[in-house]
Amino acid sequence: MIRHANSIITGTGAALPDQVITNRDLEEIVETNDQWIVSRTGIRERRKLEEGLSNVDLSERAAREALVKSGLEASDLDMILVATVTPDHHTPSTSCILQARLEAFNAGAMDISAGCTGFVYALSVAHQFISSGACQRVLVVGVEILTRFTDWKDRSTCVLFGDGAGAVVVEASEEERGIINFTLKSDGRGAKLLYVPAGGSAMPASHETVKEGRHYLVMHGNEIFKFAVKVVEDTLFKLLEEKGKQPEDLDMIILHQANLRIIDHIRKHLKLPPEKFPVNIDRFGNTSSATIPIALHEENLSGRLKEGDLVAMVAFGAGLTWGGVLMRW
Ligand code: UT7
Repeated sequence: MIRHANSIITGTGAALPDQVITNRDLEEIVETNDQWIVSRTGIRERRKLEEGLSNVDLSERAAREALVKSGLEASDLDMILVATVTPDHHTPSTSCILQARLEAFNAGAMDISAGCTGFVYALSVAHQFISSGACQRVLVVGVEILTRFTDWKDRSTCVLFGDGAGAVVVEASEEERGIINFTLKSDGRGAKLLYVPAGGSAMPASHETVKEGRHYLVMHGNEIFKFAVKVVEDTLFKLLEEKGKQPEDLDMIILHQANLRIIDHIRKHLKLPPEKFPVNIDRFGNTSSATIPIALHEENLSGRLKEGDLVAMVAFGAGLTWGGVLMRW
């Protein structure tokens, strides 16, 4: 066993449903238009999981790809972390169902619920397990099936979200790279800025809650927007300053894909070129916990992400939560 190991990502994977919902499709459902959606959010289309499939189906596809890329067998895993707010069931965890699908019977498994910051939380937890020596090989999945929790009559939310999954395999290594720093924050005073009112113990499911559509996401977009712009920048500076780095040192900045305007604002403020900021919100919408691992996979697969690159990932979301990871790829 390697003690005081570095946590390196040895494999990435992603899975997106086949069904594409364009902005034009949404114009048929709610009072909206392509121009509004593109100019306010940057979203052009999103994916919707077909009926009969669920969270674990996308998780499994992303996880299997990450495992193949890492060269590991599922039985090599000693922990599975699934970041999601749209699990298959309240209980058991999606990670346990995934463990059975993968036949990863040497692994512990748990879900992590941290809103759109879920993947950053789960990656940081994986890093802690590895640096403590408790685990050697951890599968981390960020996955959401948000279209099942979206009110398709509410134009302020239904145009934003999409379904998707991304996965990484994190391994203990003596190589001088991997996760360098992380920060995790929350402020529960903002809990009701983005939440699902019914279906939990606070408001159990009943005929009334279903009739009133209380099982759908409610969001105060404006408030979240202002919060996001502030915490993303603060988080980036904290990650860098603690390690004596400058924004210019970064080769890639993967921000949570909630709104292209947020990404553009940060990019312009930092005076960094657009090539350093991967974007998938145009094609997949806001996939919450999945936006960052999907981007990581796309950048890895295309070869744009190179060994030795300094990479920051920053997310924010329901909770409120926010956080970031700094790593040497
Ligand atoms: O993943 C983490 C959590 N989520 C976020 O980070 C989301 C952050 N927030 C946002 O991205 C933006 O606040 C939104 C994209 C959600 C909304 O953009 P906005 O520029 O803040 O718009 P707004 O809510 O202030 O609404 C402006 C107008 C309103 O009309 P009036 O009152 O000015 O007449 C809305 O009713 O736009 C209207 N509107 C729409 N119009 C056409 C709201 N949704 C739509 C729509 N199509 N889909």
